[in-house]
Amino acid sequence: MPLLSTPTRAEIAGVGSALPLRRVDNAELAAQVDTSDEWIVERTGIRSRYIAGDGETTATLATDAARRALDHAGIEASDIDLIVLATATPDQTFPATATKVQTALGIRDCVAFDVAAVCSGFLYALTVADAMIRSGGATTALVIGAETFSRILDWEDRATCVLFGDGAGAMVLRASDDPDRGILATKLHADGRYNDLLYVDGGPSTTQTVGKLRMKGREVFRHAVTNLAAVLGEVLAAAGLTSADVDWVVPHQANARILDATARKLGLSPDKVVVTVDRHANTSAASVPLAFDVAVKDGRIKRGDLVVLEAMGGGFTWGAAAVRY
Ligand code: UT7
Repeated sequence: MPLLSTPTRAEIAGVGSALPLRRVDNAELAAQVDTSDEWIVERTGIRSRYIAGDGETTATLATDAARRALDHAGIEASDIDLIVLATATPDQTFPATATKVQTALGIRDCVAFDVAAVCSGFLYALTVADAMIRSGGATTALVIGAETFSRILDWEDRATCVLFGDGAGAMVLRASDDPDRGILATKLHADGRYNDLLYVDGGPSTTQTVGKLRMKGREVFRHAVTNLAAVLGEVLAAAGLTSADVDWVVPHQANARILDATARKLGLSPDKVVVTVDRHANTSAASVPLAFDVAVKDGRIKRGDLVVLEAMGGGFTWGAAAVRY
């Protein structure tokens, strides 16, 4: 890949994803927690999730997803000069999980770091990698969202433990001088006044424990629909597009009702929304690239399609991207 002196775009060269071996359906959960398949399906649309087992970590899932994305792109690991990995569940507080992926892929030298923006992490990572490529700071990047939320769930709290799953998704971004393809626009937001609606009650600098996830679900829900519809409108406007131009929406997969309500607010047909929350549950930073990969591999998202990505999560943080795949 020759170094381009003035890249105008970061294009998506390939995508990949990985899930743990163990699939847990609602009936299996209901045998351990005071819940039911009916409640979970009706309130969230979730039917199953994947839970990491021994030897499966955020780094191993991220590495598997990255390998598949590199294969899909037809790019060698040695061509990667940037890894940005979004996670709220790193293998260790430090070093960055991105450096573990680097080593596992046998990359001798590159820029590698993690981004912490919880469920919006992939949008943040994509925005950073896009900016580095457009400014000439990188030519070929791995952007990864990877999580093992099962390890920070309170399995006694039925209001949260049924909602999340583990997994990873990856994209290979490449500098391109094709002005019509690639990442057209991104838009990010954060509002820390809402820290206490979705958080982990531990950390190295406070309790010196890892902590467990805590969420006021109903309030998060209310903010999610408003913020996501607004940021999708902003990113489309920034790209000079409207809802009518959109071929696919790949949303953060938190709750089927949020996906429906957001699509309705934008006047988008539910048929254009990629939904994987039923099989993967909420995989936080992994959910957008995981859903994107599913829709590419099953033939829905095709080269040339206009795809919008969106997510919102703890912080609050939220964001969106418009891409021509
Ligand atoms: O990824 C980051 C972003 N996160 C989100 O976007 C999550 C947003 N929030 C949501 O998706 C929804 O608010 C939830 C799915 C978390 C909850 O749905 P809800 O319709 O807001 O339910 P709720 O929390 O108001 O609870 C309704 C009832 C309560 O019982 P009472 O007080 O009405 O008797 C809960 O105790 O449902 C009960 N409940 C459950 N029942 C059976 C809560 N969790 C469960 C459960 N099984 N797992």
